[in-house]
Parts: sequence; structure tokens; C-alpha cells
Amino acid sequence: AMGDYPDFMAKEIAEQPEAIERLLKDRLTPKGIRLDELEMTDAEIAAIDRVYIVACGTSYHVGLIARSLIESWARIPVSVEPASEFNYEDVLVSDHTLCIIITQSGETADTLASARKMHAAGAKVLAVTNVIGSSAAREADGVLYVQAGPEVAVASTKAYTAQMVASVLVALFLAQRNGSLGYREVSRRFRELERVPGLIREVLARAWQDEAAAHAFIGAGSSLFLGRGLNSTTAAEGALKLKEISYLHAEAYPAGEMKHGPIALIDPGFPVVVICPDDRVRYKTISNIQEVKARGAVVVSVATDGDQKIAQLSDYLLMIPPAPEYYVPIVAVVHLQMLARYVALARGCDVDKPRNLAKSVTVE
Ligand code: M6R
Repeated sequence: AMGDYPDFMAKEIAEQPEAIERLLKDRLTPKGIRLDELEMTDAEIAAIDRVYIVACGTSYHVGLIARSLIESWARIPVSVEPASEFNYEDVLVSDHTLCIIITQSGETADTLASARKMHAAGAKVLAVTNVIGSSAAREADGVLYVQAGPEVAVASTKAYTAQMVASVLVALFLAQRNGSLGYREVSRRFRELERVPGLIREVLARAWQDEAAAHAFIGAGSSLFLGRGLNSTTAAEGALKLKEISYLHAEAYPAGEMKHGPIALIDPGFPVVVICPDDRVRYKTISNIQEVKARGAVVVSVATDGDQKIAQLSDYLLMIPPAPEYYVPIVAVVHLQMLARYVALARGCDVDKPRNLAKSVTVE
């Protein structure tokens, strides 16, 4: 039931902090991250020479974030493919490959077909899923349940953030087991992760910023989302949410790629969302804000509290509290979920049941 919420999407957005707290409960032990779900021996983990992550839609975006974390923390090369591509490609899967499928519903046909292809190649498959007893859970060798609770709205919100947190756990676990990170480092990053639910609560309390920023999209015919590094994925996820529920075209680009084509789209009034937190590439992304601003774009910036420079350059601000760089995507996306919802409502759309879409896509 929806309880006091106007729609399931609103409810599920609000449930994110508790979902993450559930997932993190009892995960750090004196021996490090507990991830029994992986069901792999130390020898098997030591033999992993590659990770393949396969998923669709929003879950694919989780895979992109997971790749960065596993590569930088566990130092294992990771490939990420949409399942519908993976299934028809010549892939480099062997019995030394760890395969991870990410699927909220556990019933996405393309993703299940990928799991079978991975098995046939001799690999072990870990399923990251939200639905207990789903096909993905039954077919995989190990299952990591993200425990987000039922997600009813077609647009995925709490499953996205919970799956990202699950990916952080996998990355920390692999890093600790193969010795790339020591216990102190792993526990420090885990403690930082435990702060994320509180940071999300702060963002939820700023929904008025998203409601205001929705005005930038009302008369628009298209929009652009920009971000760098991990947040080029945040941009992709924000654009997917907006397209899916508001039917407004949105395109996401890594911010630095914009000048290689998409900048031609910008004319006065064109809405551009820029994810520009206080991180290593902030000053580079600021130059992209200046480029679109100079061409008349209406700029909606996701920025860190206190950023005066971005405040001056932006028409609307979606502020986030300071967060560790690698956890910003989990916090910042909450604004983009709320933004998409407000734009959809303003355009008279049914936010829970967008046209042409089903909650799980059971055809290949
Ligand atoms: O259940 P899954 O995670 O396998 O679903 C994959 C996609 O169909 C899904 O994430 C879709 O992109 C969402 N509706 C986006 O909000």
C-alpha cells in the first residue's frame, strides 16, 4: 500500500535510507566485510582474472559504477555489458571469470539468458537482485539480495541505490580478499558508507529544490544531462528516469564529450543538468557549465553545499551535503529521481505506470 504517499515512486524514493541500512546491517566483522553470498573459496577468488557485469537499464547503470569501484579497489579488470548485447557477442568469459548479473526483478529475460551463457562458458554467476526466489536467484551460484523491499513503480529508485550499495560491498570484499586493500582501509570505507543513509535523508529534505527546478523543463522539447567520472553514470541514470516517466527527451553525455557534438543542440532556454560535486574534476566540469551557459542554456546544477562559484553560474541548484567521492552517485541520484518525478507530474504523466513499459521485461 502507498500509505501517506501520493504515488509509489514517492514512497520508494523516501524508503531509500532504510533500505540501505538494512543491507549494511552486520556486514562489517572483525575479519572484514561479510559476504557469504558469494560462495567462493579463497583459492577461487585469488584465481579471478576478470569480472563481467551484465544487466539492463537502470541495473546496467549500477554495473558501470561497480566497474569503477572494483577496478580501483580490487584491481581486477571489469567489463560491463547490457545483457542484450552480451548475449550476441564473442565474450571473454572463462572459469576464471567472476560473472555478476544485476537485476532488480530477477526476471529480465535478456539478463537470465546472459547467466546461462556465462554458465555454459564455465563461469560462476553471482546474482544481485531484490526479489527472493526470482529466476535469477534460482539460476545463479550465489545470490546477494539487496533487501530494498517491493518496488512497485516502474521507474527503479530504491533498487538502484541499494544495488549500488551492494556493488560497494562486492568491491570492498574482493579488495580485502585479494589483498588490494587492508582491513583498516576497508573498514574506513565501510564506515563512510554507513553515513550514506543520513546524507540521503538530507537530500530528501530538499525536495523543494527539485520541485523548483522542474520549471526549467516544462516547455522544453529536449534536455541534456552532463557529468564526469562516476557521475557520467549519474547523468545517464537521471536522463533515463526523466525519459521514462515524463516522456521528455533527455540525453546524457560525459561532460567533456559535449563539445564533440551535442553542444550544437544548445540554444536559449535549453535545459542542461550538470552533476558537478566537489571532487577532483569539479573545475573541469565548471568549464562545461560556462560553455552551455554562454549559449543560453538553463542550467540545473547538482553541487556540494557552499559552492558559490556554481551557484553564480546556475539557474537552479540541487544541493548535496559533502560526501566521499565514490559515494556521491548514491546521494546525488536522489535529486534526479525527485526531479524526474516533478517534471512528470507537471506534464500530467502517471509516474508509477509510464506508457509502453512493464516492471519486468520478460521477452528478449
Ligand atoms: O529488473 P531489472 O533490474 O532486470 O530491470 C532492468 C530494467 O528493465 C529496468 O532497470 C528499467 O530500466 C527501469 N524501469 C528503469 O527505471
